[in-house]
Amino acid sequence: MKKILKIIGILLLLIVVVIGGFASFIAIRGIPSYTVSIPNVPQTEVTPQRVERGAKIASMLCRNCHFNPETGKLTGRELTEAPAFGTIYSKNITQDKEAGIGKWTDAELIYFIRTGINPHTSKYVPPYMVKLIHISNEDMCSIMAYLHSDRPEVQPDKTAHPPTEPSFLTKFLCMVAFKPAPFPDKEIPNPDTSNVMEWGKYLTLYQLECYGCHSADFKTDNFVEPEKSEGFFGGGNELAVEDGSKIKTLNLTPDEETGIGGWTEEQFANAVRNGIVPTGPALRKPMMPFVQLTDGEVHAIYSYLRTVPKIKNKVERNI
Ligand code: HEC
Ligand code: HEC
Repeated sequence: MKKILKIIGILLLLIVVVIGGFASFIAIRGIPSYTVSIPNVPQTEVTPQRVERGAKIASMLCRNCHFNPETGKLTGRELTEAPAFGTIYSKNITQDKEAGIGKWTDAELIYFIRTGINPHTSKYVPPYMVKLIHISNEDMCSIMAYLHSDRPEVQPDKTAHPPTEPSFLTKFLCMVAFKPAPFPDKEIPNPDTSNVMEWGKYLTLYQLECYGCHSADFKTDNFVEPEKSEGFFGGGNELAVEDGSKIKTLNLTPDEETGIGGWTEEQFANAVRNGIVPTGPALRKPMMPFVQLTDGEVHAIYSYLRTVPKIKNKVERNI
């Protein structure tokens, strides 16, 4: 009997040592590094059309995280929306050669934005920076043209931030779940805008990534195959607001009772563009009004969302 107890004791001790060792390994190693393989992509030709389109896409995507009201530019800020991921600073992405991305080539930028591997550090960047894995080559070139443009928000600025300190959870998830996305092996064309479903899916999943916030949890989002994200568009992902309170994303599936199945297109358009909903007070941050979307784009997003599988999930708004 005594011997058995002793063996059990030794086994338990071993387990504790192994788990402890694994935990310290994760904590010390931090975010994993990967082999960098910069694709053969030429510098983007900057045209007024591309700058215009890139500015529109960036105003709906990059601006939410990189815009700093104090400088009026994309100089980055502390991102407090998902504290579980750590103390996170988005970077200065103005044209400044030291503090910003003035020295990055387009091939490096595109590689980083598509795969999530930072070409200068070889480190993977967790989901607190978006990955535009499936965005079209032309939309990507438009973002590049915008970053090189003479728009005021991208002009050189010296603002710098402390480095991001990812939490243990982030490091752990980067070891077991989050992985860099493969760089696309062929050109990704623009969606066919005469095919409403194709266009809607493109905008909702690949360009604006609405599912990222509106599925169950950032931790279980699938960026390579968005439809496989847990609770795809069923809402309930809890985000932190600047004042420290919590806000949950809402169910956008066509379920009549708990989703937006009963909404007309007009109600949907008013919600997405102006933040006005038929069911309560106006929508709050981090749901930003997508004022830039055209009627055609809103119609495409609405039509696509009506086709995603219904999920019964009642999310209460904490208002
Ligand atoms: C959800 C928030 C978020 C969005 C949206 C976002 N970013 Fe970022 N971005 C970050 C964070 C956070 C970092 C810093 C990550 C780190 O500390 O490793 C970052 C880093 C970067 C970097 C690396 C800069 C450097 O010096 O290391 C570039 C380039 C960049 N983002 C470009 C963009 C562009 C272009 C867009 C729009 C298409 C965009 N980001 C959208 C959060 C975001
Ligand atoms: C940064 C995270 C985030 C992103 C990205 C996002 N949303 Fe939201 N959305 C939210 C949050 C949070 C709420 C709830 C706001 C509240 O309760 O005031 C919300 C609410 C909504 C609502 C209201 C639903 C209802 O039942 O009242 C609609 C419609 C909506 N979002 C559509 C979209 C669409 C379409 C996109 C993509 C173009 C999108 N959202 C992208 C976070 C996000």
